Amino acid sequence: MPLHPVRPARGFPPPAGEERSEPIPKFKTLDDLPANLTGEIALVRVDLNLPMKDGSATDVTRVEAVKPTILELAGRGAKVLLLAHFGRPGGQRSSTLSTSMVIGDVGRVIGEEIMFIPEIAGPVVEQSIGILRSGDIGLLDNTRFWPGEEANDPDLAKAIAAHGTLYVNDAFSAAHRAHATTEGLAHLLPAYAGRSMEAELKALDAALGTPEQPVAAVVGGAKVSTKLAVLENLVGKVQHLIIGGGMANTFLAARGVNVGRSLCEHDLAPTVTAIMDEAERAGCTVHLPYDVVVAREFAANPASLRVCNVHEVAEDEMILDVGPTAVEALADVLKTCRTLVWNGPMGAFETEPFDAATVALARTAAALTLEGSLISVAGGGDTVAALAHAGAAEDFTYISTAGGAFLEWMEGRILPGVAALEA
Ligand code: 3PG
Repeated sequence: MPLHPVRPARGFPPPAGEERSEPIPKFKTLDDLPANLTGEIALVRVDLNLPMKDGSATDVTRVEAVKPTILELAGRGAKVLLLAHFGRPGGQRSSTLSTSMVIGDVGRVIGEEIMFIPEIAGPVVEQSIGILRSGDIGLLDNTRFWPGEEANDPDLAKAIAAHGTLYVNDAFSAAHRAHATTEGLAHLLPAYAGRSMEAELKALDAALGTPEQPVAAVVGGAKVSTKLAVLENLVGKVQHLIIGGGMANTFLAARGVNVGRSLCEHDLAPTVTAIMDEAERAGCTVHLPYDVVVAREFAANPASLRVCNVHEVAEDEMILDVGPTAVEALADVLKTCRTLVWNGPMGAFETEPFDAATVALARTAAALTLEGSLISVAGGGDTVAALAHAGAAEDFTYISTAGGAFLEWMEGRILPGVAALEA
């Protein structure tokens, strides 16, 4: 199961006195509900797709993200029913993918006892609601045990909706899925964004919706092919596109640079060239490294490690990180920017010393954020692990909860779970 940790927003919105146009939320939040929710039954979509090891979660940041919403609704007197998927059971029950696997971790983080309800609709749910008191919390079983969840079956959505009086979506990280509990329910009950969803949407709007200019995007990671749509969207939106990781090799090769044995998608040369042309037309500067860290073998601190100009990579060498001179130049670019959106590491950061560029650039971004000169938003897959490794994650303005949803948002796509809230 993928790990997509989350940290609550810090320093967001920016300090008072900073000029920035606040997004006007097009969705209702918990502020639009009455203070006293006694008698209400809140169906709350959360993302409990937690990474597990030996029966317990190795990262509970997603639970921490939804804790404020759950405690607020319970504290205001609602009965709170949590809806969540866990893994990809493909429409069938599976004992290892029951949400009962995470209920211990969820209860510990929330600090409340949580009743497990082994269904998502029907008499068992009805009876359980009868047992719950005002302010109590129940966790329904894995929504993906029912095929109608992923099919966004209106009948399943209606059956679930029948148990609630209001719907709260606090699962941005599942909002790219048009499923019954992420999308369908929003049309059947009064629908609200939870606190985590609200913070996420505001942060993302500040990063790419109505950002302070100039905007820089760091896009790293192994393969261009997985981020083509991201790149195509960003070149029309940001002033600086910083390419790192294996992706940079594909860009360099497309420019005629010999990248030796580096990870490289040579067949994408025409596509990458078209992206660079489009960037030029749009006034977006694409930053590629001009010095790189290379080695003949991919191992920690290999004897063959050296730093060289991109034009000096030998046939038997691999580019494994952006070089120090390029990192300094990129840091200078960030100093001229007001907004940064970051997805993907700059090098093979899990193996030292190929973490150096990621660490250095992340620390620069963190320092600029702390100074108040940069709004920095990051998310997706490896990114949070890379920024945490750099000791920089705490100081970013916002770290997204999401993996796939963050990438789809960077692609400029409409996320069905968000669109349904706005309807
Ligand atoms: C995630 O872990 O990114 C979300 O929970 C979505 O999971 P999915 O990719 O299985 O839909």
